[in-house]
Amino acid sequence: MICVLIKYCLRLSDTYLSMARIFLLTKPFSLENQSDSDENHKAPNILRQVLSLLKNVRPGSDLSCLKLPPVFNMPKSQLQCYAESVYCTAVDMVSNFNRGKTAVDRLIAVVAWSISTTRPVRFGVAPYNPTLGETHHVSKGNLNILLEQVSHHPPVSALHATDDKENIEMIWCHFLVSKFTGTSVEGQVQGKRQLKLHNHGETYEMNSPNLLIRFLPVPGTDWVGNVSIRCLETGLVAELNYTSQSFFGFRSNGRQVKGKIFDALSKKILGKIEGHWDSTLTLKNTSDSEVRVIYDAKQVISRLQAPIVKDLENVWPTETGLVWGGLSQRILNKEWEKARQAKKIVEERQRELLRERESKGESWSPKHFKVSYSKEQGWDCSPIQRQVPNAPIITL
Ligand SMILES: *[C@@H]1O[C@H](CO)[C@@H](O)[C@H](O)[C@H]1NC(C)=O
Ligand SMILES: *[C@@H]1O[C@H](CO)[C@@H](O)[C@H](O)[C@H]1NC(C)=O
Ligand SMILES: *[C@@H]1O[C@H](CO)[C@@H](O)[C@H](O)[C@H]1NC(C)=O
Repeated sequence: MICVLIKYCLRLSDTYLSMARIFLLTKPFSLENQSDSDENHKAPNILRQVLSLLKNVRPGSDLSCLKLPPVFNMPKSQLQCYAESVYCTAVDMVSNFNRGKTAVDRLIAVVAWSISTTRPVRFGVAPYNPTLGETHHVSKGNLNILLEQVSHHPPVSALHATDDKENIEMIWCHFLVSKFTGTSVEGQVQGKRQLKLHNHGETYEMNSPNLLIRFLPVPGTDWVGNVSIRCLETGLVAELNYTSQSFFGFRSNGRQVKGKIFDALSKKILGKIEGHWDSTLTLKNTSDSEVRVIYDAKQVISRLQAPIVKDLENVWPTETGLVWGGLSQRILNKEWEKARQAKKIVEERQRELLRERESKGESWSPKHFKVSYSKEQGWDCSPIQRQVPNAPIITL
């Protein structure tokens, strides 16, 4: 689990003279996680704990203000969860975009990439709610990825990634809304993702499926909902429907994706998509009925490694691996009392920064994004820099 663990002394302002901080980024979610039998055995116990946590929560409530004890945390922040769905792939998805000769081929490559961002999630544990201004900056080959938490309540995360060799760019802005229904929690991943293929003058816009965390009748997690992927310039669209099919055998039967690709102008259906996001997806060409595999989860999201730090001196103090490293270490060690203290330190530091700003009459603004909010459009994040610089943390 521990891939990088380095004691790191950081000189902070007068308040913290010198303090050992731990840099730690835990392993990404990957296909292998889901066959972890240890987790299966623990499920009934976790379920009891989760239900007792939610005992006083009314159905229909928003859960974003619920304070979680560390035993319900997975050792990583939500920022890392978004990021690793981009930089943790066992095959290079990015170079596939430009390999597509026609606009339809490129849409199919984008669909496969969109599916690859869907990862198995463990039941009963949630990532940390990132601190305001928390960042995560990682390079994978020529692809440089930078995330920043641009709002704490509600939690809004922005992502910018550029690859100057492939001449592509990604911009995401996501905000989470968690709703408790009584027998499940639905985590709605609102906001949008943009992918720009500059060589082709194409911009693709898409959304994310939502995470369904079910308690009854069988505890489990699944991605559900409609995803639409559209190219603004060509009018080609893919619509995907993620369903959680079976209530009882969610491990084998759920995780289904069905959809189609079509031309928004002529309304002509060009292909039908079918399969499971954790195994394979096929595309059936409606004109010649040929069926081919467009995505194979085993090739893309298994054998994944956590990022490693290449240049510790240049890691920003806001880096998620530093902000939460101490807590993650305690959680991995199952030292729950120390974990509680570590979490308190992070929260106390946040409150202190807020007090400091308030006493100076300053308001906070993101370093890397321009952020706007409107009732109709929701949150919008646009990167300030044209290109994301190389990161001191890398992944293979
Ligand atoms: C998904 O789209 C279908 C039709 O396009 C609609 O009937 C359904 O209600 C949508 N589901 C959700 C969860 O939005
Ligand atoms: C998509 O899935 C939802 C359930 O999640 C279902 O109600 C809807 O009918 C489906 N739409 C299509 C177009 O299959
Ligand atoms: C379907 O096949 C035709 C003819 O081979 C091809 O022109 C078209 O691009 C294919 N469509 C898709 C969606 O792959």
